[in-house]
Amino acid sequence: MSFKIITSNADETKALGKKLGSLLKSGDCVLLDGELGAGKTTFTQGIASALKIKGDVTSPTFVIAREHKSLTDGPNLVHVDAYRLNTLAEISHLDLVTDIEKAILVVEWGKGLVNDLVAEPVHIKIEHDKDDENKREFTINAPEQVIKGLL
Ligand SMILES: Nc1ncnc2c1ncn2[C@@H]1O[C@H](COP(=O)(O)OP(=O)(O)O)[C@@H](O)[C@H]1O
Ligand SMILES: [Mg+2]
Repeated sequence: MSFKIITSNADETKALGKKLGSLLKSGDCVLLDGELGAGKTTFTQGIASALKIKGDVTSPTFVIAREHKSLTDGPNLVHVDAYRLNTLAEISHLDLVTDIEKAILVVEWGKGLVNDLVAEPVHIKIEHDKDDENKREFTINAPEQVIKGLL
């Protein structure tokens, strides 16, 4: 299922990410697409706040993957920059402490990545509005129960 939603500023994008984060469970994966500055990391910060992640979430550029521990018993966050990956399974070859099956995996630059790791990833495309520099259009593809939770 797919739907579109527009945010008007970074806080609204974080709120949308937080809402999605509250609907995710261990082993879920979110693939984020959009050019530099689209809001992929901002959206991930919203997911992180739903998971009660300790500390700041910044762009994982140059590190491929960053692991963030939840302050709760809930899933940790693994935040990936897929820029230099070809397949999602390569993530399982990285030297992560976190068991990705028990974490939420958020992948920036997920477009074109071969998905050989998770059954039903949430796929989100973020696009700039051509007239308003703070507006972003989100196209969210997700299982029906996730979309229903977002509405
Ligand atoms: N509606 C919006 N949603 C997300 N970010 C926005 C929005 N409007 C302005 N911004 C700004 O755009 C930038 C997005 O940066 P970032 O999240 O790092 O993008 P990316 O990870 O896609 O490169 C931030 O500086 C943020 O404050
Ligand atoms: Mg980023």
